[in-house]
Amino acid sequence: MTNQQSIHSWNEEFKQASPVDVLDFFLDHFKGKIGLSTSMGMEDQVLTEMVTSIDPGIRIFTLDTGRLFPETYDLISRTSKKYSKQIEVFFPDAGEIEQMVAEKGINLFYQSIENREMCCQIRKLKPLARALDGLDAWITGLRKDQSVTRNELQVVEWDDNNGLIKINPLTNWTEDEVKEYIEARGIPVNPLHKQGFASIGCQPCTRAIEESEDVRAGRWWWETPETKECGLHKK
Ligand code: ADX
Ligand code: SF4
Repeated sequence: MTNQQSIHSWNEEFKQASPVDVLDFFLDHFKGKIGLSTSMGMEDQVLTEMVTSIDPGIRIFTLDTGRLFPETYDLISRTSKKYSKQIEVFFPDAGEIEQMVAEKGINLFYQSIENREMCCQIRKLKPLARALDGLDAWITGLRKDQSVTRNELQVVEWDDNNGLIKINPLTNWTEDEVKEYIEARGIPVNPLHKQGFASIGCQPCTRAIEESEDVRAGRWWWETPETKECGLHKK
């Protein structure tokens, strides 16, 4: 079967499946060649709890852009301790950051979408490519109802940018389901959520939201909803 055929049949098979069933299957199918990519968001914390209980040896990694909130670093440390699990941290290339900042300024991202994409490219996408090297599949905490850019999201997808399979076990979960799971199990989360930060990325590119706003309204809030993908999940 080609990758596309496998993906199609897996999506049929796992359309109604629970996230744990999805993970049970793929952690075994891609054993040793699959990893969880965590931004330490609520969805990723749910997935960390699930994957470590299925396969304690699974790789879990995060991309440290150098512009994260102090609370996020603290959560990396607390999560690592709670699950007795080393979370691999991938950093951007220092020389590339220095050159970008010298040419465009430290807060270049506010000036144009092009600048913002360049910063995400250097601080996130290139380190992601290194993190994915040698893997056949990666797991993300993406959910369909997070934004207009994600409403077509499937459980299994082909990641053309990085040339491997992407698994989104929580795609059909609602925000309430995520929160209930976290409460029920005492899973550690970022304290900033309680201060109105729904979706948390880099500090200069994230603000708190009002209750009436979309969950991702606080990310790159100066841009329109259609452009708000950093490239990690761009089609
Ligand atoms: S983003 O593309 O806008 O930054 P978002 O914050 O919604 O993405 O996160 C979606 C998923 O992308 C996360 O559940 C996680 O799997 C992955 N991801 C996002 N940011 C990071 C990061 N800094 N490190 C590792 N994975 C990340
Ligand atoms: Fe740079 Fe902002 Fe993208 Fe972080 S989210 S990598 S600071 S543009």
